[in-house]
This record gives sequence, structure tokens and C-alpha cells, in this order.
Amino acid sequence: MRDLKNIKNEFPLLRDSDIVYLDSGATSQKPKCVVDRIQRYYEKENANPNHGAYKLSIKTGEEVQEVREKVAKFINAKNAEEIIFTKNATEALNLVAQSYGMANLKKGDEIVLSIMEHHSNLVPWQQVALKKKAKINYLYIDKNFEIPESEIEKKITKNTKVVCVLSVSNVLGTHNNIEKIAKKAHSVGAIVVADLTQGVAHVPFDVQKTDVDFAGFSAHKMYGPLGVGVLYGKRELLEKMDPFLMGGSMVEYVYEQKTTFAELPKKFEAGTQNLAGIIGFGAAIDFMNEIGYKAITKKEAELSKYALACLKKLSFVEIYATKNNPAVISFNVKNIHPHDVASLLDAKKICIRAGNHCAQPLLRFLNLDSTLRISFGVYNTKEDIDALVKALVEIYDKFKKYIKE
Ligand SMILES: Cc1ncc(COP(=O)(O)O)c(C=O)c1O
Repeated sequence: MRDLKNIKNEFPLLRDSDIVYLDSGATSQKPKCVVDRIQRYYEKENANPNHGAYKLSIKTGEEVQEVREKVAKFINAKNAEEIIFTKNATEALNLVAQSYGMANLKKGDEIVLSIMEHHSNLVPWQQVALKKKAKINYLYIDKNFEIPESEIEKKITKNTKVVCVLSVSNVLGTHNNIEKIAKKAHSVGAIVVADLTQGVAHVPFDVQKTDVDFAGFSAHKMYGPLGVGVLYGKRELLEKMDPFLMGGSMVEYVYEQKTTFAELPKKFEAGTQNLAGIIGFGAAIDFMNEIGYKAITKKEAELSKYALACLKKLSFVEIYATKNNPAVISFNVKNIHPHDVASLLDAKKICIRAGNHCAQPLLRFLNLDSTLRISFGVYNTKEDIDALVKALVEIYDKFKKYIKE
């Protein structure tokens, strides 16, 4: 087991600098064990597993398969063939829209999206809807930034064919009850596409218990490297779907005029994969497992409670976050543009995000253009939040005289 006490020391970028990093929702920092594993791969193991008949090549293939099994276990997939490696969550979610959506939707069908969806699980479905003349309906949120049951009951109907929902909102921190949404979706014969990208670094997700049909996420938000994503899909659905990308590695036989495709998961993994990244991702999963979700959830719940309490004390701050353990908290400083605040914080070595967070429909729904956003990782401390609060007070004090209320 890994102790969370001195965990910051395991992250070279944080250990060797005095920055306060509160932007893990954009990408998490990488522990040394992950960086070392990638370095070791390139220094001692590098080979392409595609049809290589030599030991080095076979070993890389075996390592990738091991990581696939680790990922399957991590989200409780029935088997490793249901895990497809992609370059990120966005590609995973596009794969579903293109391969499942384009083949299965027709005029008049309905796609239900939560208004909280990141553009990655929204724009691909808009394109499907436009091409197939299907309709998009949204699950709107209430004043607590949660999807009320009445929305689920009203919007998911016998015309619904696909329901897309994220496990945790990357803007509001809302944890959605995907199990309940999936139950309703399945009762009308629709499939569920879950976006776990913001959730899986913070809370466990069980694809069998929730019974989602597809799920996508990125390694880089869970202490793993950039350039690796995961698509989980139920085997019976993946088997019926056409490949998304064509080329090497995903074929069985190629003739002059036609091709037969490889079995799962290869059918969806065209070309050479980011092998070092996948193997580094395996080290990131080990890292998370060694800490354990229980400890991660406990620490981050304490942090978010503390951050919410501190921010609430600032009369010049408006908060947009669920009350229930948000790992992500959006807020604004009254009368100062979020980009200005973020730049001023940067000058104080505090990294936080400002913008629309790739969730423009949500921000429009909330009547906002952009927000500031803090998000936590296992390395964050109460001192990080104290530094943020102190800096916000200083910034506001400096600006106060120019502000007309
Ligand atoms: C909820 C959510 N979904 C999808 C994505 C897209 O992830 P990626 O850019 O790694 O594909 C993000 C990234 O911020 C996200 O927060």
C-alpha cells in the first residue's frame, strides 16, 4: 500500500518546484513510477508487437495484454477483449458515435444527452443526429446542479436510442447516478454511453454493476501518460460494430477488393499503438491501486469540503459546484474576468483553469461565459487551498477600487 502523507514527493514536477497545481481535471501530474516505467520501456524493451517473431516484440505484446487485463479489472469489465485502447477519451467516444451511432440510428430516433456533457460526448452525437435526421434531447439540471429524476423519466422515451452521460461533471463536480439512468434507458431499449473521464481518477466505476453499454476515459487524467485512452464496450455490441479506423493490425485477410477484420479488440485498434503510453498507463493503474480508491476518495472529499468552506467565506466569490464531494469546483470572482484572475494567480505560481471547459451548452444553460475551475489530485493539500484563497483575497483587494458594483 502507498501512503498519501508524502505523496507529493513522488511527483517530480511538484516536488522540484513551488507551484500550486490545482488543474488535475485538465491533466494530472505524473508520478515518478509512471515516468520511470516509460523510460525503461524505451531504454530496454522498445519493439513493435505487430507480428514480430522475436522475444522483444513478443514481450511488448504480452505487456500490452497485461495492461488490458488490468484496465478490465479496474472497471470490472467481464473480459479484457472489451477494452479497446484509443488515443484519448475523445477518440473512444467518437468511435461509438461513428461505429454504433451511424449504423443504428435513423430518422426520428432520439439521442438523450445530459446538459453537462463535455464536447467530446456531445459534438460527435450532434453529427450523427444531423446525418441521420435524429433528434437530440437534453437532461437539464436543477438548482443543486443535479439531474432530477423527473428529467430522466420525461426525456428517456420509447423513441430514445442512445443516452450519453458523464459520471462526474468536469465543470460542476456533480456525480451522476448512471446506474439509475442506465436502468431507465434499457427499459426503453436504448444504450448508454458513459463518459468516465473526469470520474475515474476520483471514484470507482463498475461497468457491470452500472450496466453501461460503452464507457470512455483518458489515462492522462488518472496519473498516466498522454496519448492513451480507453473504450469499454459490451462484447456483444462491439462484435456487431464495424471498425472505426482501417489499416494495419485490425485485419484478418486483405484481398484486392475486400478485407476481413480481426477479432476483438484488434478490430478497433488500427495501426501501431502508443505502446510506451499503454505500458506507462499500467504503472499508473498500479499506482492508484496501491493507494486505493478508499484513501483517494477520503482525502479528496476532505479537500473539496475544505475548499468549498474557504471559498464560501469570500463574499466576492460565486461558486458553481455540487454540494456532494465535488473533485472539481467552478467559481468566479465578481466583476473580474476569469481569464484575468487565472493570469494573476499564475503570477503567484498557482495553476488553475479558466474558460468554458469544453462544455459550452452547459455554461450557456447556466448563463455564464466562462468560469475559474479548481480540480484536485491525490497530491493536493489544504495548504494548496490556503495559498489559493490568500491569492484570491490579494487579487480582489487590488482590483476593488476599480470595480463599480
Ligand atoms: C468529462 C470529460 N470528458 C471528456 C474529456 C476529453 O478528454 P480528452 O481530451 O483526454 O480526450 C474531458 C477532458 O477534459 C472531460 O473532462
